[in-house]
Amino acid sequence: MAGHIPREFIDDLLTRTDIIDVIHSRVPLKKAGREYKACCPFHNEKTPSFTVSPSKQFYYCFGCGQNGSALSFLMEYEHFSFVEAIESLANSLGLDVPREQGKRGHNQLSAKRSRDLYDLMEEASTYYQLQLKSKPEAIQYLKNRGLDSQTSKTFGIGFSPDSWDAIKSQLSTHYTVPQLLDTGLLIQKEETGKTYDRFRNRIMFPIRDKRGRVIGFGGRVMGDELPKYLNSPETPIFSKGTELYGFYEARKHTRKLERLVVVEGYMDVIALAQFGISYAVATLGTATTAEHISQMFRAVSDIVFCFDGDRAGKDAAWRAMENALPLLKDDKEIRFLFLDEGEDPDTQVRKSGKESFESLLDSAVTLTDYLINTLQTRHNISTREGKAHLLNDAGKLLQTIPESLIKEQLITTMAKLTNVEPNLIKQHKLTAQSDYYADQRIEPRQVSSRLSDREVRLTPVRYAIALLLNEPKLAEYVENPEKIALYPIDGVNFLAKLLEIFEDSPNLTAANLIERFRGSEYEAPLINLTKWRPSTDDITVLQREFQDCLRQIRKKAHENQLESLLHKERVQGLSPQEKNDLMILLSEMH
Ligand code: CTP
Ligand code: MN
Repeated sequence: MAGHIPREFIDDLLTRTDIIDVIHSRVPLKKAGREYKACCPFHNEKTPSFTVSPSKQFYYCFGCGQNGSALSFLMEYEHFSFVEAIESLANSLGLDVPREQGKRGHNQLSAKRSRDLYDLMEEASTYYQLQLKSKPEAIQYLKNRGLDSQTSKTFGIGFSPDSWDAIKSQLSTHYTVPQLLDTGLLIQKEETGKTYDRFRNRIMFPIRDKRGRVIGFGGRVMGDELPKYLNSPETPIFSKGTELYGFYEARKHTRKLERLVVVEGYMDVIALAQFGISYAVATLGTATTAEHISQMFRAVSDIVFCFDGDRAGKDAAWRAMENALPLLKDDKEIRFLFLDEGEDPDTQVRKSGKESFESLLDSAVTLTDYLINTLQTRHNISTREGKAHLLNDAGKLLQTIPESLIKEQLITTMAKLTNVEPNLIKQHKLTAQSDYYADQRIEPRQVSSRLSDREVRLTPVRYAIALLLNEPKLAEYVENPEKIALYPIDGVNFLAKLLEIFEDSPNLTAANLIERFRGSEYEAPLINLTKWRPSTDDITVLQREFQDCLRQIRKKAHENQLESLLHKERVQGLSPQEKNDLMILLSEMH
């Protein structure tokens, strides 16, 4: 029998998945304030009461009460089992689902708390940025490349010292060597087991995920050494096929992005931003994947791929086009811009400036023109054979395009070009896959368990938990969570447990907890409290309220303790220890 799926894996899976992506690809969501809304896929309705919270990674329908994490959503919507839902999420991140073998050692929890890899990367990035300040040579390099300090700051550019153990000695007070190895900042020699810093004497570009967390680095030499760029390897928090360099910065800069430009390099993204084109992203030394494209389409409906005019650029463009075909829609646009030989966006924008670069973008060729033109250069359509070859290639590509006007138009154009009946092209095994794109919505079904008690009765303990679920950062402000567990108050042990979990891993969301407590007595209350929303997201207000709750809890605990000690004193007398406790409690009362 296969072993358990480790809890850490499920945590990690949910941390790396965005519930918005999971749901949006099945039920289109609209942004509404801090949350997203849609008409509920689980019951029939005309006005949307299905809401998804990105911060809690939790969905909830005010109409029918359906709720849960990305995993619950897949189970409900796709009728997956729990394990199937996990496999589906893992699949889309390119991960294998591990199984536990036998019992695991408990000694893995070292004295040092196992703090998150995200924190580690953030600290590394801060350190590299600081190092840049004391390295005139690196500052000069950036100046020579025309970067101003503002842009440098926006992108968090740093410098890794010329040392074999700088990052290790910097971070090993807070983190373990295995953690440093996990993030790829350290490399271990196989023969000797010795470790050394991956990034040495390089300009450092932090790679951030969509939420702005540092998940990897690119490092560039300042001279002509090789390799020119060194990147973080794939790690538990970094996968190149899903991340886009500069996406976070672009979205941060422009609230409502309209267009994205995909370029090849870090410096291209940065140079464009400095020239006021703050909507460029780069893939990380890999081809543009369907996952990249679908992420971009969730943010904008206009994508321009901007590649060098050389062979490599053309190959990259073709791959991107192939991967984009299954995602084509009549309301989306993908275009291609090829720069002159020898130019990249970095050099081009410096030469021509913002406006003329943007007019180049405006003049980019559409995906269909690009597709047809390229096929025409590959085949000689003045011959019957050439036409057949072209149609054969085209057929393979058309097959992957969902039914749409774009597809119809492509077919018409191909037909004209080759003097063939459009129907012939269509019939030529082009329809085989159309089922795949058919509407996959499930039957709306009657939902019996209508939730009447939307109001959660908020005692201080419940209120503290609800606040914590909305803002896990609040856990940082609690000094001794384990002490809270001892208070003689209902529910405090659960609060203490949550505090400990969030203190260990501040990046977990409510959804992670729901999954951790799935099937336990805590599941229902946890879900109930997760539904609650604070009236503000002002962290200082939340902090104040949270502290206030803790104060009330502490006070109540004292009262309860006092009462029971006084009671015991009356009926059976107190031990010396208890007397002492009583004295302390009494003195603390005033
Ligand atoms: N790249 C990489 N590893 C390399 C070379 C390139 O990962 N050894 C990736 C980097 O993301 C780089 C992009 O490919 O930014 C484009 O590479 P290239 O055109 O060689 O570099 P530029 O971005 O033009 O770099 P620069 O302008 O800094 O010379
Ligand atoms: Mn360049």
